[in-house]
Amino acid sequence: MGFGLFSSKSKPLIGVDISSSAVKMLELGVGSDGSRRVERYAIARLPREAVTEGTLTKPEAVEVAMREAWQTLDTRTRDIVLALPASAVTAKKLILPKEASEEDIESQAISEATQIVPFPMEEITLDFQVLGPTERNPNDNEVLVVITRKDRVDERVAVAESAGLKTTVMDVDTYATLSAFDQIAFQLPNAGKGQTIAIVDIGHTTTHVNIMHDNKPVYQREHPFGGQILTQEISRRFGLPWEEAEDAKCKGLLPESFESEVLRPFLDSAAQEISRALQLFFASSPQQHVDHLLLAGGCSSVPGLDEAVFGKTQISTIITNPFAKMAVSSHVKARQLAIDAPALFVACGLALRRFDTA
Ligand SMILES: Nc1ncnc2c1ncn2[C@@H]1O[C@H](COP(=O)(O)OP(=O)(O)OP(=O)(O)O)[C@@H](O)[C@H]1O
Ligand SMILES: [Mg+2]
Repeated sequence: MGFGLFSSKSKPLIGVDISSSAVKMLELGVGSDGSRRVERYAIARLPREAVTEGTLTKPEAVEVAMREAWQTLDTRTRDIVLALPASAVTAKKLILPKEASEEDIESQAISEATQIVPFPMEEITLDFQVLGPTERNPNDNEVLVVITRKDRVDERVAVAESAGLKTTVMDVDTYATLSAFDQIAFQLPNAGKGQTIAIVDIGHTTTHVNIMHDNKPVYQREHPFGGQILTQEISRRFGLPWEEAEDAKCKGLLPESFESEVLRPFLDSAAQEISRALQLFFASSPQQHVDHLLLAGGCSSVPGLDEAVFGKTQISTIITNPFAKMAVSSHVKARQLAIDAPALFVACGLALRRFDTA
């Protein structure tokens, strides 16, 4: 029944984030002092619209990028962890008696699934994990059930297979973000305890917002805003083809007028978008303030974004580096990793599955 979300691995494993701009691969290992170590990573850019709204619209292009990234990695393992986009899954927490067997849980999960997703049972797949006793009653367990359509799993597994890779775990990008957050919570005041933290991953097409309170996830939402808006504007304003505009943007090779005419308005709208996203959170939650805002995603490298967000929200804003406390293998260029780190946030969470003990 399960699609492998809650299985665990201790062998070498590559975290693979198939996102809208690129296929990103990352392998983590163990350093000589026992700490986690970045062994290798690769980012293979995807052509425009190869992945749209989390669907592999051009699977051949994704396959090519997967092969390219895997070759760049120069690893021996072909075992990978993939992720589904949050929009492809429905998650529900059930409360069940502690003595419920695997079979009881499964049949309860199936009966819930048929009520909450509008697809026939043969088109869906689900996985569950016992989270532990509820706060109210130690004789009841909280069980997380994650439901998705089979075809959303199959399209990713199939493209990986055609690129010569074996999917051993299918995760969800939001859960990967939460695992990566665990790596950086120690940098926060009081290690995040009692704090409300917004993790804002601004990617190419989507801004993924995850809010933690007291180091537990309390809110998740996606907004259709990302770096492609800036690429589009550069392409329009300077008459550059898309690929050239994307390149010039990332390398900072743009005319002087870029800053006042294109960058400034983009920063203002990004800050506005984040501020609105937080208002939506406040409207649906008992928490009425955020202590810290962590920026992730490739777009957090846009110069001045952190200041613009702080200016608009007055919330202390930092650009995250999920590898801050990890060692780095001598194969990896540490300076380039520091630049790429925010975009590898999800890949980091996926690669950490190697160390799962559950
Ligand atoms: N140095 C840079 N300066 C400006 N923009 C950058 C830089 N590096 C990356 N970007 C932009 O970040 C975006 C890619 O970020 P990221 O890799 O997080 O997106 P993604 O995960 O593919 O997207 P999504 O999560 O929306 O599917 C692109 O728009 C890219 O142009
Ligand atoms: Mg992303």
